[in-house]
Amino acid sequence: MEVQSGLLAQADKQLISVVVHNLLSNAWKYTRPIEHPKVEVGSRKEAGRVVFFATDNSVGFDMAYAEKLFGAFQRPHSESEFEGTGIGLATVARIVRMHGGSV
Ligand SMILES: Nc1ncnc2c1ncn2[C@@H]1O[C@H](COP(=O)(O)OP(=O)(O)O)[C@@H](O)[C@H]1O
Ligand SMILES: [Mg+2]
Repeated sequence: MEVQSGLLAQADKQLISVVVHNLLSNAWKYTRPIEHPKVEVGSRKEAGRVVFFATDNSVGFDMAYAEKLFGAFQRPHSESEFEGTGIGLATVARIVRMHGGSV
């Protein structure tokens, strides 16, 4: 895993750790079948705003579902293949919005 150095954000410590935990546990879970998993965390400037990202080379998902995944209980992968409750990304979205951001 690669983490860019010097990442800095002003946020509620406990809530932002829930965000990081959810994104990274997804990255690890969905890269499980991948032989050489790669997870990266960092930030970049986009149109004057700071954008934080967590990327991975996981099994991925159909981009048609991309928006839906941030709603609760949306789980396109099967429970038998990848365990989960489907509330992680919905929680991430709530916390980011609460901080005035978007996801
Ligand atoms: N890093 C990822 N790679 C591939 N699919 C992902 C990733 N993160 C999330 N997803 C997809 O988004 C869905 C919703 O994620 P989440 O709310 O964290 O639920 P859960 O992890 O409990 O299934 C997952 O079921 C999965 O289909
Ligand atoms: Mg999850």
